[in-house]
Amino acid sequence: MSNQYQHIAEGLKDVMRLLPYPVTVVTAAYGKRFRGITIGSFTSLSLQPPLVTFNVNCESQMHSLLEDADRFVVHIPGEDQDEICSRFALPDQEDAEQFEGLNYTREPGEPPVLSDVIAELHCTMFRMFRAGDHSIIIGSVERIQRNREEPSILYCNGAYQALKLDSSG
Ligand SMILES: Cc1cc2nc3c(=O)[nH]c(=O)nc-3n(C[C@H](O)[C@H](O)[C@H](O)COP(=O)(O)O)c2cc1C
Repeated sequence: MSNQYQHIAEGLKDVMRLLPYPVTVVTAAYGKRFRGITIGSFTSLSLQPPLVTFNVNCESQMHSLLEDADRFVVHIPGEDQDEICSRFALPDQEDAEQFEGLNYTREPGEPPVLSDVIAELHCTMFRMFRAGDHSIIIGSVERIQRNREEPSILYCNGAYQALKLDSSG
């Protein structure tokens, strides 16, 4: 990182640790390749049309795959699925190695779909553009699959957290 930004960038990382954010796993495929990545920058963007967005590091293996892929699936893990999130955040894994021992389905050329997550958003690529060392991905939501009623998982202060919902109201 250039010295010009290093001080502010470290401060920014430090402050961002204070903010809880949702954790998703995005999968994509192109030709024989298929992989997933843990993403904390996911949010919805628009309802008319239905769009979602997240950011991907340009250095990640997933970045090069998303440059080619025209579809991806955003998985929303439940509060007890931190292992899946950790798995797809591990660096330097081969495509198939990421999915070893996991329950998932896959049609040729299609993004893998992880079983047992609480929801899936099946998207087509709407836009992808560079912003600094990341690219902003915008997806058009084509289909939504709800599998279970359960709170999703969060990340805050360097750890996965379960959302403590107030059930008194
Ligand atoms: C909770 C959490 C959230 C993350 N969010 C993002 C994100 O939004 N964008 C990103 O590029 N990497 C994010 N990462 C890092 C990637 O998951 C990680 O660098 C991954 O191994 C890189 O994928 P690759 O195998 O495609 O290189 C996050 C990691 C964690 C643990």
